[in-house]
Amino acid sequence: MATLWIGTNNKKKRAELERMLAPLGLELRTPDQLLVPFDPIEDQPDFAGNARVKACLLARLANGYALADDSGLCVDALHGRPGVLSARYGGPGLDDRGRLLRLLEELRPVPLGQRTAHFRCSLCVCAPDGRTLAAIEERCEGTLLTAPTGDGGFGYDPIFVPLEFAGDPAKTFAQLDAATKDRLSHRGKALRALAAALPRLVQDR
Ligand code: IMP
Repeated sequence: MATLWIGTNNKKKRAELERMLAPLGLELRTPDQLLVPFDPIEDQPDFAGNARVKACLLARLANGYALADDSGLCVDALHGRPGVLSARYGGPGLDDRGRLLRLLEELRPVPLGQRTAHFRCSLCVCAPDGRTLAAIEERCEGTLLTAPTGDGGFGYDPIFVPLEFAGDPAKTFAQLDAATKDRLSHRGKALRALAAALPRLVQDR
């Protein structure tokens, strides 16, 4: 069975990737199975660059095929922020909840009709020698609530309402079941776009 390493230390993100990759019949491995730490330096200006950094580093460390995700929330009223800095928004010391509340505070003056945003997900697959084999970026459009709603998901899910669930009552990603989030999300779209090619790209070693 071919092995694919999943290049993220974010356990919730990893769980989403693993459940969507499960039907492909690959053996999935994660950075905690390495004998060395996986600490990529995410210093690129865009999602695609950071996804490449992560996939390339993990492929080399593991001497195997690696898939990495770089993703984030881009808010129109903030000219695309927090964007690539989504995981670090508000500085060190904040957890997911703290970052979300900080963002809500910054958005307080923004009226409901102008709270548009999208999630973006860049995926990159690298070969054991670090070569990029595939890359894709997808997005999911929606709006942001004024208060967190729902207990599921992670990150900014409790304030993000995808366009498809903008009706009354609106539903955030954190209120949707896993299959529905996967169907609509930036990550789900990107992974489906790669899925057909993955088993061919990732060979037995
Ligand atoms: P990364 O690990 O640098 O790619 O950081 C991604 C960050 O973007 C996460 O820590 C979340 O804050 C946010 N993010 C990305 N995808 C999602 C999602 O599907 N739901 C909620 N937040 C997300």
